[in-house]
Amino acid sequence: MITLKKKFSDSFNFVFNKTVILRVDLNVPMDNQTISDNTRIIKIIPTIKKLLEQKAKIIIISHFGRPKGKWSDNLSLKFLIDDFEALTEKKVGFIESNIKNLKKLEINEQFKNFDILILENIRFYPEEEKNVDKFSKIIASLGDIFINDCFSCSHRAHSSISGVPKYLPSFPGKLLEHEVQNLKNLFLLSNESDSIAVLGGSKVSSKLKLIEFYAKKYSKVIIGGAMANTMVLANGCEIGESVYEKRMIEISKDILSNYSEKLLIPSDFIVTDKKFKKKPEAKLATKIDKKDTIVDIGPQTRMSFHNEILKTKILLWNGPLGLFEKKPFDEGTCFVLNAIKANKNKNFFSVAGGGDTISLLNNSNNYNDFSFVSTGGGAFLEFIQGKVMPGLSSLNV
Ligand code: 3PG
Repeated sequence: MITLKKKFSDSFNFVFNKTVILRVDLNVPMDNQTISDNTRIIKIIPTIKKLLEQKAKIIIISHFGRPKGKWSDNLSLKFLIDDFEALTEKKVGFIESNIKNLKKLEINEQFKNFDILILENIRFYPEEEKNVDKFSKIIASLGDIFINDCFSCSHRAHSSISGVPKYLPSFPGKLLEHEVQNLKNLFLLSNESDSIAVLGGSKVSSKLKLIEFYAKKYSKVIIGGAMANTMVLANGCEIGESVYEKRMIEISKDILSNYSEKLLIPSDFIVTDKKFKKKPEAKLATKIDKKDTIVDIGPQTRMSFHNEILKTKILLWNGPLGLFEKKPFDEGTCFVLNAIKANKNKNFFSVAGGGDTISLLNNSNNYNDFSFVSTGGGAFLEFIQGKVMPGLSSLNV
């Protein structure tokens, strides 16, 4: 497991009156050109404030979406500038021009008016994802110091993540440091008898490694969401017209028999019909009909998951346990999340992250019940399985 050799505070000796290239993640969820969840911006404000206190000038680099190396107006960072200024309470300069033609002189000119400049979406350049050395050098030539405050993209070996540190003194940002410290606690504090992983979402295939990793490491693993449908089917039950993954049935049978002591799968569900027209009702997993569609965990399962959580000291949460985005099928997830609220004042360490988990916790008002919520999606899932992350290891060289 990675240990960061440098701290954010180590950069303070270097940044005074210097230009810092700050890699952040402004890849925030949008709804009609409005930010629907600004957590990733809020979380980098302490780093920005600290750097400005040290009289640094900041060049912000971020990606937005997956433009695949092509300029596209829809994925321009310009739509975020107003929100960014409002949240950071700072005026910023937006540099739309191609950084391959950008001269330091132009940047210095802009810095006469602004302390913070934001460059256009770094993924508009095909060299970014290919991690082209020449491109990393171009980025590095714009500043004096590099700070990575983008944990959520540190699993990518891209130029602005792991390329630039080859050419500039590089440090972790405050948020990245905080992510690594907290997520490491999931390993360091846990022992076999008091830890639980709650894994929801739709695909066994995308969470297979995670399930096996935590089934080996933790005392219990709760499986919910459509992943549970595949497991229940593998157990020999009918799941009607519910979502499942055919190719994962055999693998699910193996997982269920290898980790029968550790895995907790739902014993009852809320079902309706395919078009959600039928009045939802609770049914035991053994009583599902051919025309039923599973949409949530049932009351018996809610209670048993809730009670399991009350017994533990370490908890990892990833993903919803039912069709969370469609009310009232969020009720099972919300019920189980209340166990985290109930445990809050005990000796209990809880971490959530991955995919849409932040929005889920914000929507259910449970964000503040967790000891730590990661800003990472894929990066969170990779880190918590102990994978090497290029953005983190490059800070150590
Ligand atoms: C994320 O949203 O998880 C990060 O911004 C990384 O985005 P990516 O999966 O497109 O690299």
